[in-house]
Amino acid sequence: MKNRKSQIIGEVRELSRSFSQRTIPADYMDRSESREAYGAYYGEVGRAKGEALGEEILLRGAPELFRKERLRILDLGSGTGEFSLALARTLLASCPVSVDLHMVDRSEEALVRIAGDKDGSGLSLSYSRALLPAERPFLGEGWDIVSMANCLAENESAHEGFAELFGAVVDVLSPEGLLLLVEPADKRSSRALLSLGDSLLERTPGLVLLAPCPGSRSAPCPALSDPDNWCHEDRPAGFSGELLRTAEAVGHVKDALKMTYLLFSRSSPLQAPALRLVSPLHREKGLFWGDFCDGRAWARIRLLTRNKGELTRDFSRLRRGETIAPPPDWPPVKTGLFDWPKDRPIVRLFHPDGRPFEPGGREPS
Ligand SMILES: C[S@@+](CC[C@H](N)C(=O)[O-])C[C@H]1O[C@@H](n2cnc3c(N)ncnc32)[C@H](O)[C@@H]1O
Repeated sequence: MKNRKSQIIGEVRELSRSFSQRTIPADYMDRSESREAYGAYYGEVGRAKGEALGEEILLRGAPELFRKERLRILDLGSGTGEFSLALARTLLASCPVSVDLHMVDRSEEALVRIAGDKDGSGLSLSYSRALLPAERPFLGEGWDIVSMANCLAENESAHEGFAELFGAVVDVLSPEGLLLLVEPADKRSSRALLSLGDSLLERTPGLVLLAPCPGSRSAPCPALSDPDNWCHEDRPAGFSGELLRTAEAVGHVKDALKMTYLLFSRSSPLQAPALRLVSPLHREKGLFWGDFCDGRAWARIRLLTRNKGELTRDFSRLRRGETIAPPPDWPPVKTGLFDWPKDRPIVRLFHPDGRPFEPGGREPS
């Protein structure tokens, strides 16, 4: 037992080093040691992301999507499967549908093992081995949800091919279909995904960015205009004691669900303007401040402590990813820095996952 734990820690350390240095060997999912260590450690995080994004899809997706008898989900780069299985099971738990989940990976060794996991709960699994973005055996069919998580980072030299692949994927999405792309939260992975998103929006008329960006932004992503910026989620999450012990042993901090994601829809009404906090909320002597995005530009908004009152108090409670209603005179004539006046109320609109605040900005009961 002790040997197995230290073996997993060693494998996770090596995986983590080669993921961040972009030196991961193409066959790591074929090796049982690294595949099992991936499943034991990254699999738990993938499951948490799949559940969180499944809930978000239930909230943000068109109601017609969940009135179907059968949802067809395609997951690209499935690996050990925890992400897409969790996403599918989250949808199954809330809707009277059955789900066909088709998983694609270059590693048949990984796929064969997931396909063995049949649970008779309305979920049917199938798979194809394919080397993306060139091999596309799944494009002959229609899909309701297409996802890809943590695969782009392993394919830095093929980003143009992936943009072209997703352009083709959008063509085979059902009219109410969704495309969900998820990558790690670090600057390099995040910026790569945001660029891919821009490229998809440019080449695909009618594609709507549902989340996380406010106001149904169209390209270009404001984070990319400054080489030091990127945009990611940092949401509260709890992990098992075993995962936390492995994280500590390899020097990771696992105190939140961190990721960059983009959720596209083929057809959605355009969203109302909003300002999204895309940084932590900073507290300094005499002021609070944060960076906000309205989908077109980033602006630093400050609330001077002397302007904190009944109407503006909620500014100091904001968390990364929450949105507020823009003031009537938004955008400021001089973009870049905006001092929130004391007579303009702060109206909290949405939590980071799209759940609305109740009128007045209170938490939903
Ligand atoms: C980091 S794992 C992610 C697994 C799962 N999606 C998750 O989020 O936990 C990346 C997976 O993508 C697969 N992959 C990477 N590049 C690929 C490519 N070009 N074509 C097909 N699969 C690929 C790898 O084999 C691996 O299983």
